[in-house]
Amino acid sequence: VSRKGSGLLKEIREKQSLHKSRKRFWELAGSNLGDILGVEKSSEQVDADTAVVGDKGEVDFRREGKFSEHMKRVEAMSEFAKSKTMAEQRQYLPIFSVRDELLQVIRENQVVVVVGETGSGKTTQLTQYLHEDGYTINGIVGCTQPRRVAAMSVAKRVSEEMGTELGGEVGYAIRFEDVTGPNTVIKYMTDGVLLRETLKDPELDKYRVVVMDEAHERSLNTDVLFGILRKVVAQRRDFKLIVTSATLNAQKFSDFFGGVPIFNIPGRTFPVNIIYSKSPCEDYVEAAVKRAMTIHVASPPGDILMFMTGQEEIEAACFSLKERMEQLIASSSKEITKLLILPIYSQLPADLQARIFQKSEDGARKCIVATNIAETSLTVDGICYVIDTGYGKMKVFNPRMGMDALQVFPISRAASDQRAGRAGRTGPGTCYRLYTESAYLNEMFPSPVPEIQRTNLGNVVLLLKSMKIDNLLDFDFMDPPPQENIHNSMYQLWVLGALNDAGGLTYLGWKMVEFPLDPPLAKMLLMGERFACVDEVLTIVSMLSVPSVFFRPKDRAEESDAAREKFFVPESDHITLLNVYQQWEKHGFRGDWCSDHYLQVKSLRKAREVRSQLLDILKQLKIPLKSCGQDWDAVRKAICSAYFHNSARLKGVGAYVNCITGMPCHLHPSSALYGLGYTPDYVVYHELMLTTKEYMQCATSVEPHWLADLWPMFFSIKDSNTSMLECKRKKKEENSNGGRDRRN
Ligand code: CDP
Ligand code: MG
Repeated sequence: VSRKGSGLLKEIREKQSLHKSRKRFWELAGSNLGDILGVEKSSEQVDADTAVVGDKGEVDFRREGKFSEHMKRVEAMSEFAKSKTMAEQRQYLPIFSVRDELLQVIRENQVVVVVGETGSGKTTQLTQYLHEDGYTINGIVGCTQPRRVAAMSVAKRVSEEMGTELGGEVGYAIRFEDVTGPNTVIKYMTDGVLLRETLKDPELDKYRVVVMDEAHERSLNTDVLFGILRKVVAQRRDFKLIVTSATLNAQKFSDFFGGVPIFNIPGRTFPVNIIYSKSPCEDYVEAAVKRAMTIHVASPPGDILMFMTGQEEIEAACFSLKERMEQLIASSSKEITKLLILPIYSQLPADLQARIFQKSEDGARKCIVATNIAETSLTVDGICYVIDTGYGKMKVFNPRMGMDALQVFPISRAASDQRAGRAGRTGPGTCYRLYTESAYLNEMFPSPVPEIQRTNLGNVVLLLKSMKIDNLLDFDFMDPPPQENIHNSMYQLWVLGALNDAGGLTYLGWKMVEFPLDPPLAKMLLMGERFACVDEVLTIVSMLSVPSVFFRPKDRAEESDAAREKFFVPESDHITLLNVYQQWEKHGFRGDWCSDHYLQVKSLRKAREVRSQLLDILKQLKIPLKSCGQDWDAVRKAICSAYFHNSARLKGVGAYVNCITGMPCHLHPSSALYGLGYTPDYVVYHELMLTTKEYMQCATSVEPHWLADLWPMFFSIKDSNTSMLECKRKKKEENSNGGRDRRN
């Protein structure tokens, strides 16, 4: 392993120790299980850590016989894709063979659950069938996706299939980006977008049909939509709802709507040979890389799909694969087939994401290194080998930190089966599981815990309250979130001033609902009005809503760090972001200026767009765009006023503890605050990032008396000479009394 790689791998190993807390986590999360899919099992096991490519490149063709038939199919498929028109490709999809029956069932029922293997054509075809069957004559067809990437890429694909411009008859909408027009009749969108639309239009009048796609993922927004759409179905006879799902959960969805029909699309899948590791693997990144190399050298053609948990691991794996390929090419006398190493994760720029769909040239083998984004939302043809690490990242409400954190957890059996299935779409395939069969059978949870049961519900509570659903426990949740989580979120909203003592929305709360932002960000923006710095805070909020604007290529780390430092405003990372934006504005929003200063032009442009959309909302609320000039204190106060829960006190150089929870947190090495020459006694931070340490992402120094003035229920000045702050009430969420109302 290279030096660069090994640090990361060490880090990953630390994360793996989380594995141990698994049982406890599931207990905390409060489980609710559905049935599970059966998958063809095999007792064949290999040792993932020792299966290495022979140094001299010996090739093992033992499996060749088994694969020859399969390879013919793969070739036939890609020939097919190359030679056939889009219309012909559409007719080849499994859903096409049941098109008429499906439309008949939809005509006869208001709600239908549609079940089909990934790749059968649900997402791309259903909407078009509905369009062809006349449902867009009076109204439009909406289709929700749990992920932005899927909404965009599917809309693009469907617009191509229909031979129209994207944004014309077919469009998409994701948060801060609406690519639809007056002619749009098929609209793909994230479930979050539809959820927000229900605020303005509770009966969803413009939709004739809504397809809730990938419902089995049970994203938070989808789960809330379920409750809302059940009402719409009862109120509007002309409205149709289609819920698509993997086999998992289908019955549950049907029951939720009163026993509606489940329509099965006959599958066309091939057997997948499952190979387990003999022993638990120490380091799954390393093991996965080795496995991929072995496949590449020793197994017949066919693309590889490898599952990692996140961007860092993906980068480490790609780096290591590249290095090993170079070594292999250098040390081998034979010609080595090219390996196209393709990362994919949601933060990857769209043009790079699109590369995974492109045909590889001159017989190169593709190796796609992905997060669980490739489990269901994205389908790439030609995958014959799946390498499954058995881990994934999940957003989990962490009671100790009082916030959501993306954490690495073992995946569920359902997810594991779904991953394996990706190898059998175009022919028989193989799935290498880098965990033991016993772990699969005895340790993995049968199905994932729905997001609604494990995350902070701040946004949902705010939204439901604004829909006049006063008692959240009465809402039609398919699986109600733990009461403790509801109370926690309500408590946070109350402290932010969005809820009154009776649990109703305050005036501030009503205004916060208008913004498609997390409650603290919305509050920060609105507090900009009180401190007369809306203009500045608006920019900061926009910058915090896009991927990092700083570009730090590995090979030019020093230059890029130096470039970044030039923007530093020493008392605040938030104001540093503001400074970057203002400088960019001063330079005419130029792209070349960004590249000269190691800034991501895409992120900045996105921030500019977000800014203009948030500005529209401010205008609607008649909030004037006041600027405070250079009065940074005003801006820092506005930030401070929304992030009480993320306030921290200095403990050592760069080391802090959260004032309320006592959770340790550290200044990130890239923080502008180091520029002060001393580390401030008190800071507030945007969020905590868990890597090797708990790092505060984006911190701003604050005065302790601001905290005491803003949150008298929490803080008082203990010693007026040193301005030492005393935290009056520590949250004791670690204990079991976390759910009780702490207002009394
Ligand atoms: O939703 P489901 O998994 O059932 O299938 P789909 O997403 O509608 O995909 C059907 C076919 O369309 C797949 O075989 C993909 O090859 C193709 N497709 C594509 O080429 N580009 C996309 N962005 C999405 C799908
Ligand atoms: Mg789909």
